Amino acid sequence: MSALKNDRYLRALLRQPVDMTPIWMMRQAGRYLSEYKATRAEAGDFMSLCRNQELACEVTLQPLRRYALDAAILFSDILTIPDAMGLGLSFGAGEGPKFAKPIENQRDVTNLPIPDPEQELQYVMNAVRTIYNALDGSVPLIGFSGSPWTLATYMVEGGSSKAFTKIKKMLYAEPHLLHQLLDKLADSVVLYLNAQIKAGAQAVMVFDTWGGVLAHRDYRDFSLQYMHKIVDGLIRDYRGRRVPVTLFTKGGGLWLEAMAATGCDALGLDWTVDLAQARARVGHKVALQGNIDPSVLYADQARIEQEVQQTLQDFGAGSGHVFNLGHGIHQDVSPDSPKYLVDAVHRFSQHYHATEK
Ligand code: CP3
Repeated sequence: MSALKNDRYLRALLRQPVDMTPIWMMRQAGRYLSEYKATRAEAGDFMSLCRNQELACEVTLQPLRRYALDAAILFSDILTIPDAMGLGLSFGAGEGPKFAKPIENQRDVTNLPIPDPEQELQYVMNAVRTIYNALDGSVPLIGFSGSPWTLATYMVEGGSSKAFTKIKKMLYAEPHLLHQLLDKLADSVVLYLNAQIKAGAQAVMVFDTWGGVLAHRDYRDFSLQYMHKIVDGLIRDYRGRRVPVTLFTKGGGLWLEAMAATGCDALGLDWTVDLAQARARVGHKVALQGNIDPSVLYADQARIEQEVQQTLQDFGAGSGHVFNLGHGIHQDVSPDSPKYLVDAVHRFSQHYHATEK
C-alpha cells in the first residue's frame, strides 16, 4: 500500500491537526464539466459509465485535474444496491432514476436478495480498485452508499419523488413491512461498504438525502436506527489506519446530537445549519463537513471568497472541519467557480490552523 501524500481530509475527520482545511465537493464529478459529458457519451449512458471501471476512474479523476481537491469520491451511484437486488434501474434522458419493479408488498420484500458485493456489485469494487491504484496515494478515496431510508424511498416510490406518498403510506399502514425492508438494506449496505473498504476506500460516507422528510420521531425509528446499525457493522480500522465514517442527513440539522451518538466520526451538514452552533452542539464528538449553499457557485469570485471566509470563521480555529457544499454541485455552474472556492479555502484557512503545526 502506498503512503498518502495528502491526508488532510482523513486527519480533519479524526479532528487531528492539519495545515489547512481540506475540501472536496459533493458530486464533484458531473455534468458541469465538459470532459465528464464527453466520457459519459463515450460510455453510452450513465449506468454504462458506472459499469466501466476505466471510464469510472477517468471521471473520478477529472475534477482533481482541475482543482486542488483533498479527496476523490468513487464515481458510482447510491442506486446500485437496489439495481443489484433486481429492481431494474434505468435513467431516462433528463428524467432521473426509474425502477421497473418497485417494492409494493410483503412478497416483494421477502423475495429481495442481499447482494454479494463481489458478485452482482463487482463492477463497483473493480472501479474502487482501479481508482485507488490510479490515485497512487495522492489523496484519499471516499467510498459511499445511500442510507436504508433513502434507498427505500426510491425502491417504493419507483423513482424520485416530491411527496413520498407511497413510502409514507407504508410507514404508517404497514410499518413492519417497511422495517423488514430497511433491515435488509442495512445488511446490504454493511456488506457493500466493507467491500469498498477492502477494495481501497479510505473513508466512507452514507448519503441520507431524504431523512429530512421524516417526522421527528419517525427519523429515529426509520432512518437513524438503520444508519446506527451500519456504523456498528463497518470495518473501522483497515491496514493500520482508521476508516472514518460520515453520516449526512439532508435537512437533519435538528438531530445532530442523535446522529453523533451513533459513534460515527463526522456529520455532513446542509446549508440550513449554522456551523458555529453545530460545532458547539457536537464538535466535541464528531468532525463536521459542509456547508455552503451550492448556489454560491453562481456568484462571482469576490462573493465566493466572502462566503468561504464567513464559513471558516463560523467554524473557528482548530481541526475537525472538512469544507464542502451543503449538497451536490449544480450542473450549470461555471467550471471556473470551484477553482475560486477550493483555492480560497486553502488560502484563508491556514491561520485557523497556525497553532497546530
Ligand atoms: O459525488 C460524486 O462525484 C460521486 C458520484 C455520485 C453520483 N451520485 C453520480 C451521479 C454520488 C455520490 C451520487 C449519490 C446519489 N445518487 C444520491 C445521494 C447524494 C445526494 O445528492 O444527496 C442520490 C439521491 C442519487 C440518486 C440519483 N442518481 C439521482 C436522483 C440521479 C439523477 C439526478 C440528475 O441530476 O439527473 C442520479 C444520477 C447521477 N448520479 C448523475 C451523477 C453524476 C447524473 C447522471 C448523468 O450523468 O446524467
